[in-house]
Amino acid sequence: MEIRKICVLGAGVMGHGIAQVCAQAGYQVNLQDIKDELVQAGINKIRKFLAGGVERKKMTPDEADTILNRIEGMIDLKEAVKDVDLIIEAIVEDINIKKDVFKELDQICSADTIFASNTSAQSITEMTMATKRPGKFIGMHWFNPPQLMRGIEIIVHDKTSNDTLNTMVDLCKKLGKETGVCKDSPGFIVNRLIQIWYNESLNMFDEGIAEPPDIDTALKAGYSFRMGPFELRDMVGMDVALASTGTHYRELMREQFRPPRCLIMKVKAGELGRKTGRGFYEYKSEA
Ligand SMILES: NC(=O)c1ccc[n+]([C@@H]2O[C@H](COP(=O)([O-])OP(=O)(O)OC[C@H]3O[C@@H](n4cnc5c(N)ncnc54)[C@H](O)[C@@H]3O)[C@@H](O)[C@H]2O)c1
Repeated sequence: MEIRKICVLGAGVMGHGIAQVCAQAGYQVNLQDIKDELVQAGINKIRKFLAGGVERKKMTPDEADTILNRIEGMIDLKEAVKDVDLIIEAIVEDINIKKDVFKELDQICSADTIFASNTSAQSITEMTMATKRPGKFIGMHWFNPPQLMRGIEIIVHDKTSNDTLNTMVDLCKKLGKETGVCKDSPGFIVNRLIQIWYNESLNMFDEGIAEPPDIDTALKAGYSFRMGPFELRDMVGMDVALASTGTHYRELMREQFRPPRCLIMKVKAGELGRKTGRGFYEYKSEA
């Protein structure tokens, strides 16, 4: 199947970046969120990112405008999914909200439209069951920030059709990304492995063994990691992180996935990371 037009649901941390990558590859994109100010905030972030590219002479101002013009922001769900071949869902990491949205979409979209979820840790199978299009449902797990990270995990469940899988792998290639394909399972490939690393880092902080800057610096300097676990937690968002490790803990029933206390407390305090201006670090200009 050929993908011509894409709808991205959710203009937050991931959605705006996914929309930008698709537009950069030449696709028409509808970017939808529940409030106009959220849509505009996402589009402004794309504008800023592209302006940085123009400044660094990676693209001309005309090229940046062309990319931006391929993205249409909207809040009306029906309008956003009209005539699209693929919906990439990047809304809040709440399985019930995601299922409700997919159920509604199933009723308003053409039977040919592929549904893809960018969930970090929720079950693709469970979301599929909210629809009547098992063959056209798939996981498409991007990494943060989508504009810079090269990989995408493609997650199939028992009834994902080969055509849908091939279409998505082919699309990822056209987006300039490399894919790892796996079966539906908590955390897929990367998050299942990386979750243990995050949790041990945060546990070390909880146990008073080292402070976040020391752990981050030791890993960056010692192993040439680009970012440390606390910087990454701030970038991902504490609420998303807690939901993710909580799901692993419940579904895989292993102690190494138990949410660390400092992560729970950060969520309770509303210190969600960069998006609220404070997490393990402070971000004065980004809140
Ligand atoms: N943050 C990351 O590093 C990361 C990485 C990979 C995958 N993900 C996954 O991507 C998804 C989005 O995460 P995020 O970090 O971008 O979250 P976010 O909170 O930054 O953005 C979510 C957006 O979805 C919007 N939204 C909520 N309900 C909606 C609805 N019914 N319809 C349309 N929009 C709705 C919110 O208003 C918000 O703007 C989650 O499933 C998350 O697990 C996140």
